[in-house]
Amino acid sequence: KTNTLILGIETSCDETSAAVVKNGREVLSNIVSSQIDSHKRFGGVVPEIASRHHVEQVTYIVEEALETAGITPDELDAIAVTEGPGLVGALLIGVNAAKALAFAWNKPLVAVHHIAGHIYANHIVDELTFPLLSLVVSGGHTELIYMKDHVSYEVIGETRDDAVGEAYDKVARTLGLPYPGGPHIDRLAQIGEPVINLPRAWLEEGSYDFSFSGLKSAVINTLHNAKQRGESWSNEEIAASFQASVVDVLVTKTLKAVEEKGVERLVLAGGVAANKGLREALTAACEKVGITLTIPPIALCTDNAAMIAAAGTFLFNKGCLADERLNGQAGLKL
Ligand code: KG4
Ligand code: ZN
Repeated sequence: KTNTLILGIETSCDETSAAVVKNGREVLSNIVSSQIDSHKRFGGVVPEIASRHHVEQVTYIVEEALETAGITPDELDAIAVTEGPGLVGALLIGVNAAKALAFAWNKPLVAVHHIAGHIYANHIVDELTFPLLSLVVSGGHTELIYMKDHVSYEVIGETRDDAVGEAYDKVARTLGLPYPGGPHIDRLAQIGEPVINLPRAWLEEGSYDFSFSGLKSAVINTLHNAKQRGESWSNEEIAASFQASVVDVLVTKTLKAVEEKGVERLVLAGGVAANKGLREALTAACEKVGITLTIPPIALCTDNAAMIAAAGTFLFNKGCLADERLNGQAGLKL
């Protein structure tokens, strides 16, 4: 048998997703059911609501993924599922669905790290070549990862407080923008000028770690002080200034790591990879130093099961299988 067909299942946060991927690269289906509308009025993801949605959706989404791909369960080689990190109640739904299906269909089970999935979204776009560096930016993660080969991860930098998407969402909330606020800030930032001088958290010399909570507080303080002085900034100016600080730190640190590690390939991943300012700045910086940059299309940047199936294919081919003892792990390390 030459083709590997993997069913992926992802339920780590607020998207219920199932996908069928052939040979780790060819997406035959990628069904995503977003819960954003249910969480919007609370200004963020409510774990209990997320779990309930997953329970209601997961079997239908799996069925739809198989149907869209035109695949019957017996044709599958394995079932790959997100083990963690994420909301534990949400993870449990996907893991238990995967375990039940693996048992019922007598298929091997593969446990995938959510961040590995985000990175492997790039493999769907353009076959991964090593060594490479990956910048993972999402609502829950901000990580710089060095990979010398498939399924080999060295986290060289990560956030010490807020994830970058989280900072976007909090600043957006301060400006009265709806959840998730990242895309709104991004849109406003295209219009405004970065006239406010906001801090950049470089941290210690040589550190690839990030910190965004100080920047978020600086935005809030700036707004507060301006109000007291009877001045005001437009939302566009605030968004542009905030985004300038974020993009400056992300791009500068990433390019420094690229240079130190001597890689010729950079891959971007996670929901914040949709950010126009970041995409443009990173593209320009990579062109300047002559390294290859891959940025997945938005549908593969935000949470989806195709990326889980893609990463799962490599684990499956290496014989890294899970069994019925598999459990969701909220704080799983890469
Ligand atoms: O990867 P993702 O869908 O879910 C997580 O695993 O967290 O990322 C969602 C995050 C949210 O914080 C959202 O505001 C942010 O990505 N985001 C953006 C943009 N689009 C989505 N942030 C900045 N600019 C954007 N265009
Ligand atoms: Zn994610």
